[in-house]
Amino acid sequence: MSRPKDGDDERREGEGKRKRRRAPEATRAPRTRTLVVVPALKRGPKSRGAANAEAQNHSAESRLAEAVGLAKAIDLDIIDAVIVPVAEPRPSTLIGSGKVDELKERVADLEIGLVVVDYNITPVQQRNLEKAWNAKVLDRTGLILEIFGERARTREGVLQVELAHLTYQKGRLVRAWTHLERQRGGGGFLGGPGEAQIELDRRMLQDRIDAIKRDLADVVKTRDLHRKGRRKVPYPIVAIVGYTNAGKSTLFNKITGAGVVAMDQVFATLDPTMREVKLPSARRIILSDTVGFISDLPTMLVAAFRATLEEVVEADLILHVRDIAHEETDAQAQDVEKVLADLGIDTLPVESNILEVWNKIDLLSADRRAELQHEALRNVRPPVLVSAETGEGMAPLLQSIDSRLGASDEILDVILPGSAGALLNWLHETSDVLAREARKDGSIELRLRIPSEKKERVIGRLRKNGISV
Ligand code: GTP
Repeated sequence: MSRPKDGDDERREGEGKRKRRRAPEATRAPRTRTLVVVPALKRGPKSRGAANAEAQNHSAESRLAEAVGLAKAIDLDIIDAVIVPVAEPRPSTLIGSGKVDELKERVADLEIGLVVVDYNITPVQQRNLEKAWNAKVLDRTGLILEIFGERARTREGVLQVELAHLTYQKGRLVRAWTHLERQRGGGGFLGGPGEAQIELDRRMLQDRIDAIKRDLADVVKTRDLHRKGRRKVPYPIVAIVGYTNAGKSTLFNKITGAGVVAMDQVFATLDPTMREVKLPSARRIILSDTVGFISDLPTMLVAAFRATLEEVVEADLILHVRDIAHEETDAQAQDVEKVLADLGIDTLPVESNILEVWNKIDLLSADRRAELQHEALRNVRPPVLVSAETGEGMAPLLQSIDSRLGASDEILDVILPGSAGALLNWLHETSDVLAREARKDGSIELRLRIPSEKKERVIGRLRKNGISV
């Protein structure tokens, strides 16, 4: 059991524009007093699907830390957090009755209004626990839906989240109904909403689901138009992905702070999590931050999650930020890769456009660091070791981004007449001048690196000026 420090979730000023700004103390509604419960099952249940079984790969302690982090993401006031061992999952309440009673007291003592149960519980379990604790119960899917709901920015994102929400509700309605039906033995009423009412609710939900699906089809059409518009900008998109709490935002802020940031009006209005960055090589990129990955993302939420990850699917390069100091860093990386693969992104090292960023090296011992450095170098696509917090490793990271994007760059050696000043300036703007040497006859010898998308333009202009390439 552990108890997180209260109030340590306040974001520091200047931590980045991405983080939500909270309303001032006086105007803010009181935050919900919340208890986080992590059921630790001895073995994965057979019937509850892969989602819950997968959660068992992560230790209860790290699931507790993650659940608290997630709950904080929607501004809940975490009063207490506990791990509850479950020997055998109970169909009625999931956790044993002794524990239910124990928690009942705690809920009352601490005046808890909401219990977050880090598990995908059945509607029956939810109802029984709510009754026993006299508090609202939110399960893992419900919690993630709330987070996506808050973070959805685009119209598509909002619709996808609403769709997932309704599908979730509908599923619960059906299952609740099945359960009641069983209790009734197909006959009379034993409480709960009647069959007719449930059927009505179900139809209402289905109508709304159909309407959203129609809206979504329209939105996707216009999104493709927007995307085409955006793609006219010849900058590669570099998307930051990673497990929740890996340090994505910290890295995003570090890079946008370190790079020469030229705020571009188009992107500035598009999304605060996208920035134009100029790398040391003069290459411009669009850096994009994304919502954190979460273990055992319910299948139902994949589409909603995917909508928040539009840039990732399109990205020229994906930075996979890992908390390399976390004891479960490998399990986390597997979760992220699984989701990326689900999104249709190639995760095989040789083929992929993923660059792993091993973050938080400041937390490692010198020995461990050396070991990881060694391991990194053995990789086909060597990861970069950094600390987004201290800034260590930023230069090699930017260089690595550059070279990964530059694999298709063209290297050109050209000789310009000394009189071609305007052309020289233009070349400096459009390409990366790797070497420049004045020759005795007054001409200038240049070695240029030209991004593939500008190749035709540059060569065309050089030829027009009578320069052989
Ligand atoms: P989500 O928004 O939940 O997906 O998290 P995130 O991946 O954006 O992580 P964030 O940047 O918010 O960082 C999570 C925590 O890790 C914060 O408390 C950071 O201060 C801390 N952190 C990030 N990078 C480093 C690092 O290099 N070293 C150390 N020691 N802490 C770091």
